Amino acid sequence: ESLAPHVLVLFGATGDLAARKLFPGLYHLAEAGRLPQEYAVIGSGRHSPGTDDEFRDRVRKGLDETVEDLDSAVADQLVARISFCTSDADDGSDLADAVAAAEERLVRDSDVDGVDDVRRLVYLSVPPSAMQPMIGMLGETGLADRARLVIEKPFGTDLESSRSLDAALKDVVDEEQVFRIDHFLGKEAVQNILALRFANGLFEPAWDRSSIESVQIDVPETLTVEGRESFYESTGCLRDMISTHLCQLLGFVALEDPGTFEEAAVRDAKSAVFQALRPLDKERTVFGQYDGYRDSDDVAEDSDVETFVALTTYVDNDRWRDVPFHLRTGKALADGRRLITLRFRTPESTIFGNGDSGCNELALELTDDPRVTVDVRAKRPGPDMDLIEGTLRLDLADDAPDAEPLEAYERLLLDVLRGERTLFTRSDEVDRLWEVVQPVMEDRPEVQSYAQGSWGPQAALDLPEGGWRLGRDG
Ligand code: BG6
Repeated sequence: ESLAPHVLVLFGATGDLAARKLFPGLYHLAEAGRLPQEYAVIGSGRHSPGTDDEFRDRVRKGLDETVEDLDSAVADQLVARISFCTSDADDGSDLADAVAAAEERLVRDSDVDGVDDVRRLVYLSVPPSAMQPMIGMLGETGLADRARLVIEKPFGTDLESSRSLDAALKDVVDEEQVFRIDHFLGKEAVQNILALRFANGLFEPAWDRSSIESVQIDVPETLTVEGRESFYESTGCLRDMISTHLCQLLGFVALEDPGTFEEAAVRDAKSAVFQALRPLDKERTVFGQYDGYRDSDDVAEDSDVETFVALTTYVDNDRWRDVPFHLRTGKALADGRRLITLRFRTPESTIFGNGDSGCNELALELTDDPRVTVDVRAKRPGPDMDLIEGTLRLDLADDAPDAEPLEAYERLLLDVLRGERTLFTRSDEVDRLWEVVQPVMEDRPEVQSYAQGSWGPQAALDLPEGGWRLGRDG
C-alpha cells in the first residue's frame, strides 16, 4: 500500500497520550512498514520542550521506556523526522512556516509534483477548552487546508459546547476531513463483534430481544486518576468514559446489519442505535468516587466529581425493546478488564425443571489479546441426567499466530493516513450521545464513596438482575 507523503502535526506532543500511545504507535507502524515512504512529524504546543534535539531525545527515551524489544534503527529513523515548533491559539504563524518548509522538503525527496500532493494530518490531543480556539487558528493560518483533523475526546463538555465546537469545525473544514477519535473503536475485539455476529449462523439469528435477556458492558480499571486529577476534576467519568467509549461499544453491539463495512453504512447503523438509545435516568444511574480521591492537591476538598459510573439503559427499537443494557466503569476498582457480556434467555423447555438449565453468556474480552467465551451447559457423563457447566473458549491470538495485531491507536492512526473513517465518530452521533447523558449531568445522582480495590458502591452491584459477570464470585 502506498501512501502520499505526509506532514503530521501533533498538538499535545509533550503530553501523556503522545508519550504513551502516539509516539509508540508511530514507532510500531514504522516497524511494520506501514507509514508513508516520506513523512515528517512536527510536535507543537505552547511551551517549548527545548531544542529539536532535546525533543528528539525525550521522544527517544520515551520509546525506550514504553516499547518492548525496540529496534533502535527503526526508532532512530522515526526520531530523525521529528521536530518541534511552538504555537498557540493566537499565533500559529511559526508553525505554518514550519509545515510549509517540511512540505517543500518532502516534495524534493519524493516523486510527487508539488506541495498540493502532500497530505497533512493534524492531531489535536488538547483539552476541550483549548479545542475550539485551536481550530480557529488552523483555519486562519491555512493549516487546515488539505488536512485531516484528528480530534480527541471528549468532544466538548456538553451538548451546547459540542454544537458550538462542531460549528467552528464546519467553518474551517469539511466533515470528510474530520476524524473524531474514540480509541475503543480501534480495539480488535470491537470489530470482532461484527465478525462474530454477521459471519456465524449460530449468533446472528439470536442477536435480539427474543434470545438475549440483557447486555453488560463492563470496563473496570484498577488505576486511580493519579497524575490526571485536574483533567478529571473538569471532566469526570461520565464524560471521559460513558458518553464516549462505553456508548460506542454499545452502538457496535446493538446495530442493525450495515450490509457492508463501508463507512457510511456502519456509521448510519450506529447512529440509528444512538437515536433509539434512551436518555439516562437518574434512578438507574450510580455515581461513585473512590476513597482518597479528594486527598490530592489538584482536587477540590469537597469535589463531587465521579470516578465511577454504573447505569442501566435501553435501546427503544424493535430489536432491543425492554432488554437492559448495563454499563459500568470506574477507577481504582478490583480488576482491570473490558468485557462485553450478552446474557441469553433460559430456554423455555421444562425438561430440566423450570429455569434450572441456566442461561448462556457470550463474553467478549476486549483486551489486546482478544478472547471470546460462551458458557454452556451439558450433560454430566454418567447414568443420571445431570447438568454440568462448561465454557467454549476462543483465543484469537492462539488461533491466528501469524496475525499482525495492531494496538488501537496504531490501527486508527493508520486509518487516518488511509482516509478510512469507518471507525471514527460522526458529529450526529456525538450530538445524540450528549443528549443521552444530559439528564444526569443536569440533575446529578448523589456521588457515593467506595473503597479502592472494591467493585464500586453497593447500589451499583444491584443494578443487573443476577449481578455483574465480573466480580460475581466475590
Ligand atoms: C481513555 C480515558 O480515553 O481511556 C482513560 O481518558 C482510560 O481515563 C483509558 O483509562 C482506557 O483506555 P484503555 O485502552 O487502556 O482501555
